[in-house]
Amino acid sequence: MNPFSQNRRGERHLEQILTISAILAVSFTAGASAQENVVPPKIVMPLEDAFRGKFLIGTALSDRALEGRDPLSESLARTHFDAFTPENSMKPEALQRVKGQFTFANADALVKMAEETGATPIGHTLVWHSQTPAWFTHDDAGRLLSRREALQNMRNHIAAVVGRYKGRVKQWDVVNEAVSDSGEAILRDSPWRQAIGDDYIAEAFRAAHKADPDAILTYNDYSNESGPKRNKTLRLLKSLLAQGIPINAVGMQCHWLLRAPLLQEADEAIRLYSALGLKVIISEFDISVLPLGNMGADIAATEAPTPTSNPYTAGLPQDVSQKLADCYGQAFAMFLRHKKDVARVTLWGVHDGTSWRNDFTVRGRTDYPLLFDRQGQPKAAFFAVQKVAQNAR
Ligand code: G3I
Repeated sequence: MNPFSQNRRGERHLEQILTISAILAVSFTAGASAQENVVPPKIVMPLEDAFRGKFLIGTALSDRALEGRDPLSESLARTHFDAFTPENSMKPEALQRVKGQFTFANADALVKMAEETGATPIGHTLVWHSQTPAWFTHDDAGRLLSRREALQNMRNHIAAVVGRYKGRVKQWDVVNEAVSDSGEAILRDSPWRQAIGDDYIAEAFRAAHKADPDAILTYNDYSNESGPKRNKTLRLLKSLLAQGIPINAVGMQCHWLLRAPLLQEADEAIRLYSALGLKVIISEFDISVLPLGNMGADIAATEAPTPTSNPYTAGLPQDVSQKLADCYGQAFAMFLRHKKDVARVTLWGVHDGTSWRNDFTVRGRTDYPLLFDRQGQPKAAFFAVQKVAQNAR
């Protein structure tokens, strides 16, 4: 079965929705004669049902949600999403902070929750320059390890992690954010590249494929919708494919800014990446409504607060909420136009209160980047997305 395919729990949900719709239709018809202009409540359809048969609709789950300390997020995830990505709990520092000592509790919880609800668990991420303990690439004195030692550390990590979830986690972000953000160099000069060499990416994909030959293997990055980084990513992917490296998909994180949404750029990027024969995954979608902030997601990029950098602490003005809804609607309409090539769209967080954007690039702000508000209520953006999904063929 194609691991990108939909799960099977949709039929039950759909019957429930149709029943609710029928009840509402009858009640309003009966009631409308007595109360003209009755505004029907907005029907909240589980997002996974709205997108069934088009692409998976996923979310990122925090450690708090996976440890049972965020029941609101867990409930929304179980109801609306059919793909679960661990926001942090499958990263190298979470799984193997100390060499040889693995901590799988939260990763296991995500896979269990996914299997309970018929959702697809996503492995994020095996090889990254961030949230990765130094021992993978450096000795205790801080010196680079030899290529052989660093390569062995990477291969052992991938074999242990992918092997543990073989046949259960069928999609992996194998390498995350390896392309440089600036300059002529294609690759970021990460500790992995310094210790192993440029071919660390190819070796990571080979190791993941060896550990689970049936898994869908993804290269994931931010800001690869446009400009030099898109061109560099295309060159990297073409090179990997030409070497016969087992890579199946490219992740476009799509951490957007409401003031500069990359709609046209992403539209073209999906066309270019899929033309390579790769599936495209919108892997970490969110849209920040706040000023400052940069187009990327390099967690090292921080900015000092200014008197105007946190304007919506008392709530989101209606006009901004509507602009966000319009942007989400346009984005999902575009994703749906590419539904044969887009395998999944994952929102990077369940509701606004859980979003990393509240602390990036300025810590301690109040952002509104997702589809549900801090009380777990669907926002105008949710209904814009739901409407686009229902109207799509
Ligand atoms: O676990 C510690 C906790 O023990 C400590 O008390 C606390 C103090 O600040 O920090 C906790 O670690 C935080 C970690 O998230 C877990 O919550 C780190 O400080 C914080 O930097 C880290 O942020 C994560 C970020 O990746 C790190 O790079 C965000 O939650 C996560 O949303 C973000 O996700 C990345 C993707 O993996 C890759 N693409 C970009 C995206 C945004 O940066």
